[in-house]
Amino acid sequence: MLMNQDDLKKLVAQAAIDYVMPRIQTGEILGIGTGTTANCFIEMLGAYKHAFAGTVASSNASETRLRQQGITVLDLNEVDRIVFYVDGADESNHNLQLIKGGGAALTREKIVTACSDTFVCIADESKWVSTLGKFPLPVEVIPMAREYVARELRKLGGEPIHRAGIVTDNGCDILDVHGLKISDPVTLESQINHITGVVTNGLFARRAADVLLLGTQSGVEIVRP
Ligand code: 5RP
Repeated sequence: MLMNQDDLKKLVAQAAIDYVMPRIQTGEILGIGTGTTANCFIEMLGAYKHAFAGTVASSNASETRLRQQGITVLDLNEVDRIVFYVDGADESNHNLQLIKGGGAALTREKIVTACSDTFVCIADESKWVSTLGKFPLPVEVIPMAREYVARELRKLGGEPIHRAGIVTDNGCDILDVHGLKISDPVTLESQINHITGVVTNGLFARRAADVLLLGTQSGVEIVRP
């Protein structure tokens, strides 16, 4: 029987448990992502809460879910080292460069990624693409700079749309940039981040995932760049 997208999310969440748990020590810290796939992982993680020292969450929403599971959540500033970061993605190319931020948590996700030894990405096969950009690229912006940043993004060939009614955990706005064909993700990530007023953008290319657990109809593929 064919698995639906929710089944595949649960499958990759279980695969992440199987990947991370044998490799983590009791004193170590896990980074936790945001979104429906990460939520499946959080639900399964409760059973293993004594196997590690605690977590750092990439959003207020994930922090709440982790606490509901009785899992310790730490401030990133109290933590020296995160061994694994587990998170979903909106798109992954074959180099494991990602688009993230569909859940508006891209900045904290990028910060936790930067602090982590290994980024384990979990995604169903609908996220696997040869070229990034079909999914609109989220860009977090300081609210007063929103229209200025939108004009600059148009110069780069995109069509930014303000994600109405969404304020990020950092008190900022999101522009979703449609119509970008992202042939050079590393350069575009830097170009967008250099626009004054941008907090960060959802390209995870300079720091891509280290391993992708990809949920397919024939099981979980372990993909490395
Ligand atoms: C949140 C994210 C998510 O990882 C991304 O949107 C994928 O979400 P989901 O697992 O719900 O498909 O980047 O900011």
